[in-house]
Amino acid sequence: MNSDKEFEFTSEDFDFLRGIVTKTTGIVAPDDKYTMYYSRLARRLRTLGLSTFAAYRDFLKNNQETESIELVNAVTTNLTSFFREKHHFDYIRDTLIPKKASEGDYTLRIWSAGCSTGEEPYTIAMTLLDAISDNSSSPDRWDIKILATDIDSNVLKTGSAGVYDASRVSSLDVGILRRYFKKGSGSNQGKVRVNPILQEHIQFKQLNLLHDWPINDRMDYIFCRNVVIYFDKETKAGLVNRFASQLKDDGILFMGHSESLYKTSDRFSLLGKTIYQLAIN
Ligand SMILES: C[S@@+](CC[C@H](N)C(=O)[O-])C[C@H]1O[C@@H](n2cnc3c(N)ncnc32)[C@H](O)[C@@H]1O
Repeated sequence: MNSDKEFEFTSEDFDFLRGIVTKTTGIVAPDDKYTMYYSRLARRLRTLGLSTFAAYRDFLKNNQETESIELVNAVTTNLTSFFREKHHFDYIRDTLIPKKASEGDYTLRIWSAGCSTGEEPYTIAMTLLDAISDNSSSPDRWDIKILATDIDSNVLKTGSAGVYDASRVSSLDVGILRRYFKKGSGSNQGKVRVNPILQEHIQFKQLNLLHDWPINDRMDYIFCRNVVIYFDKETKAGLVNRFASQLKDDGILFMGHSESLYKTSDRFSLLGKTIYQLAIN
């Protein structure tokens, strides 16, 4: 069955490895992820200088804490983009910030949970800074903190650095480009760097959503988009209920386009497309 492959990869190997990923992250890999697991982990075997998946399983058992994270990093998807699911940012700009400003509430605590390489928290920061300058005669009075977390330490490095291929921003509005990105030159040709003013408001931190959350603030908005899509139902429901407890009384949860809370939690009411308001009990 595996004769044309560099390494033999049995269904027991696949079950063992996807089992660790589910235990670590909550992500359940269906059978059709077999080929993806093989190709991504064959790379990992080469890096480690191992010649069989049996040896890799032993290596995992002996280095569980560090290698289970490498395994997760290798097989999870980090796909993201600036202004992904733009309607969420339009809602913040057009509805939520004008409401805050009219109430004289100038403190904003936001959590991008599963932030990948940082495009999501940077988009939140750009949206807020623009909305605040439109809605306030003294933008300096606003106190904004965005917590950006992910389980994958590699994506967080990219997020903190804030340097991206120019192709990732080529379709953005020219005003946004002018205000928030600087073109690289010399060895940074073809790259852009985010304006450090955005980074002043964002803290990147490694955090596994299934573990404890050492977070003091209660949040105005939590973004958890395109993260729970592969979680099993119970894990998703448990996580969403924990988000409810981490939100302020009128807090809002933004989910990904295919992550409805229908039949998942009764702690939220639907406010707009995949936008949920914490229900007052
Ligand atoms: C597809 S990306 C989504 C990025 C961004 N939220 C968006 O919608 O564009 C999913 C991210 O969730 C992270 N992730 C998956 N399981 C996680 C867990 N248990 N704890 C923290 N992050 C997790 C992955 O590492 C990945 O970077």
